[in-house]
Amino acid sequence: MPARHFLTLLDLSPAELDAVIRRAIAMKADPRGAGAGTIGRDRVMGMIFEKSSTRTRVSFEAGMAQMGGHALFLSPRDTQLGRGEPIEDTARVLSSMVDVVMIRTFAHAIVERFAACSRVPVINGLTDDFHPCQLLADVQTFVEHRGSIRGRQVAWIGDGNNMCQSYINAARQFDFELRIACPEGYEPRADLLHATAGRVSVVRDPLDAARGAHLLATDVWASMGQEAEQERRARAFAAYQLDRRLLDVAAPDAIYLHCLPAHRGEEISAELMDAPDTVIWDEAENRLHAQKALIEFLLTA
Ligand code: CP
Ligand code: NVA
Repeated sequence: MPARHFLTLLDLSPAELDAVIRRAIAMKADPRGAGAGTIGRDRVMGMIFEKSSTRTRVSFEAGMAQMGGHALFLSPRDTQLGRGEPIEDTARVLSSMVDVVMIRTFAHAIVERFAACSRVPVINGLTDDFHPCQLLADVQTFVEHRGSIRGRQVAWIGDGNNMCQSYINAARQFDFELRIACPEGYEPRADLLHATAGRVSVVRDPLDAARGAHLLATDVWASMGQEAEQERRARAFAAYQLDRRLLDVAAPDAIYLHCLPAHRGEEISAELMDAPDTVIWDEAENRLHAQKALIEFLLTA
């Protein structure tokens, strides 16, 4: 059977995604007992990072270790990838030696090309277009604090970036409504909006997105690889801060999320970031649990 991959949320069915979230919650509740993970000993993950990371690297590496396996950190700087070895050749070789591969890179086509030549499951640890692992953690966090996300209203405030586009896929797979507030010129991909018309909409005023929302989410204004655009983006997004004003018009029990790293005073106010009741730190921790459940699913599927 060909390996199952997790390049976007659309690679798993809604029922499979629900099962991964349920398993993540169970693993978190009893990490040494029923939630210990069943991947078997000596399983190895190869992790290719072409961009920086704190959470993704640590959560995958710790998760593999906790389940009895091992993770290898591979940087293009000191592998032949950085010297031009084709991604397809790297995929054939790596997948003959390890059991699962995680890739964080730029163009989404790179993970697709790798997966096409890989004998083992490939996990997208963030591309310019998608960050599906973060959405597993975000949905887990919502479910833990507020119950099912099905039928809820979600507001995305800010850039139509990889996180926003993953929220669009999540709206489809987890069955919620999504309102995206972004400045003109910073919309998510038109094909994704087209595929989710009726469920996902774009507005200009962040208050219109936040009104009545059960979940508000945001992310940096300039993603990795867009550093040169930082100043222009700061001007374009000045009115798109996730702050008290937006939370005040949301549903009374609304929660808010940020994938991190965050810039206080830019895309999120310091007040919300440092609020004692914020669930953002749970969201970060849930990367570990959600990905352990994902690895277990992919290795036993
Ligand atoms: N949220 C997230 O992916 O964080 P890192 O960039 O630190 O991995
Ligand atoms: N949109 C951000 C997410 C970081 C986790 C980026 O791609 O840099």
